[in-house]
Amino acid sequence: MSILEIKELTASVDGTEILHGINLSVNAGEVHAIMGPNGSGKSTLSYVLSGRTGYEITGGDVLLNGTSIIEAEADERARAGLFLAFQYPVELPGVSGMSFLRASVNARLREQGKEEVDQLGFVKIVRAEAQKLGISDEMLKRAVNVGFSGGEKKRYEILQMALLKPVMAILDETDSGLDVDALKIVSQGVNLLRDPQRSMLVITHYQRLLSYIVPDKVHILSGGLIVKSGDKSLALEVEENGYAGINDAA
Ligand SMILES: Nc1ncnc2c1ncn2[C@@H]1O[C@H](COP(=O)(O)OP(=O)(O)OP(=O)(O)O)[C@@H](O)[C@H]1O
Ligand SMILES: [Mg+2]
Repeated sequence: MSILEIKELTASVDGTEILHGINLSVNAGEVHAIMGPNGSGKSTLSYVLSGRTGYEITGGDVLLNGTSIIEAEADERARAGLFLAFQYPVELPGVSGMSFLRASVNARLREQGKEEVDQLGFVKIVRAEAQKLGISDEMLKRAVNVGFSGGEKKRYEILQMALLKPVMAILDETDSGLDVDALKIVSQGVNLLRDPQRSMLVITHYQRLLSYIVPDKVHILSGGLIVKSGDKSLALEVEENGYAGINDAA
């Protein structure tokens, strides 16, 4: 059964249509990769799915677990289990990391009709997850993303995902800016979260990430359209030959 179903999705930013009719279906437990040239609409797609303001859906539909989400606000989509790890994570000065993490986890627990976690219990859970991702206690004490290096911000995104346990996670270039060791740590973190009940869309420019996080399917986005889909070998083909042949074929 599809966890995420995107049907003929068109979307505009500031009155300019960027997505021209995307069709994509991700089944439960599957990991799909999206690759594509700079400016092809990958981040736009992730923002549109997450419900970011300013990204207007002009046609088509998006179903999460069979229910249309296009009328729902970003926070409702998040509570329903949609998660976006940003290409450029934002700093939130003055917002305590621990409070931020606990507020988002509790909002999701409430939505699921589960009991919220108290502060003490939560700190333990966060420390355990953070350790797996090489995130220090000192980083956890800071305001959200403030003063974090590029790679540290990416790890912090995966920490949020590990805590929120989304049903559909979209990771936008989570590999960019990671050193070789961090790439392995983050990929392991993502792989630990692979689950028959969880699906993922992994946006990346490089096959290297996909040798760690092996995708079930690979899609190429170009000019706001999916121009080719295939299995993991498609990523190797792109690495080898670039996008020229694929665009010509489309
Ligand atoms: N506010 C805006 N107004 C006009 N055009 C925009 C706006 N925001 C994004 N775009 C355009 O939409 C296109 C898609 O951008 P997007 O960030 O989705 O690309 P991307 O595939 O994520 O690229 P990258 O690989 O560089 O991250 C680009 O041509 C970009 O200039
Ligand atoms: Mg992008």
